[in-house]
Amino acid sequence: MNNTKNIVVLASGGGTNLQALIDAQKRGELGNGKITCVIASKADAYALTRAKENGIKTRTLIRKDYSDVVKYSEDMRDALIEEKADVIVYAGFMTILDKCVCDAFENKMVNVHPALIPSFCGKGYYGLHVHEEALKKGVKVSGATVHFVTAECDGGPIILQKAVEVLDDDTPETLQKRIMEQAEWKILPKAVALLCDEKIEIRNGKTFLKQEV
Ligand code: GAR
Repeated sequence: MNNTKNIVVLASGGGTNLQALIDAQKRGELGNGKITCVIASKADAYALTRAKENGIKTRTLIRKDYSDVVKYSEDMRDALIEEKADVIVYAGFMTILDKCVCDAFENKMVNVHPALIPSFCGKGYYGLHVHEEALKKGVKVSGATVHFVTAECDGGPIILQKAVEVLDDDTPETLQKRIMEQAEWKILPKAVALLCDEKIEIRNGKTFLKQEV
């Protein structure tokens, strides 16, 4: 199989998950995928700099220029169609897009979430807030999840998860850093490669790895 899949990455901030994808691509670990464009929802997203430094096309679609998430989502859908996106990765992308995007790219969009879904997920659980809530609850283990994006926020079929120990003296920042290093940056490129290589099957809302024949 060598039909290259165009990967479009959506980001809002620092873009360390984008960097993990770029590094995986350089090591030849993104399967049939190639990152062809990064679209940021904020003009000052450092993800844009990371993309440019690596010769990847960038676009911005600024969330705060829109009062309406539906119109924003329609423009995002059109941008993704224009970019001929085969696989879309939410890598620290902080907008919950309208169903019109999920419908246009069903089973082609994945998100990395910094907790073990179904814990600490859904509307309002993003970035450091997730880790603040995990520490408030006193969980001993947290981690990261890569899942398909559906109309239900953080509710799509789970592709990969990795657990990370929570330490007694963790702050939201130290926990975030350990979860990124030990989980997110490892499972996101792996899940994207599996999707680009068409190795994921979805049955009854769950994912399975296709068996080689
Ligand atoms: C990451 O921890 C990512 O999992 C999280 O924001 C951080 C972004 O980091 N995403 C969400 O909370 C989405 N709901 P990055 O910009 O350095 O990749």
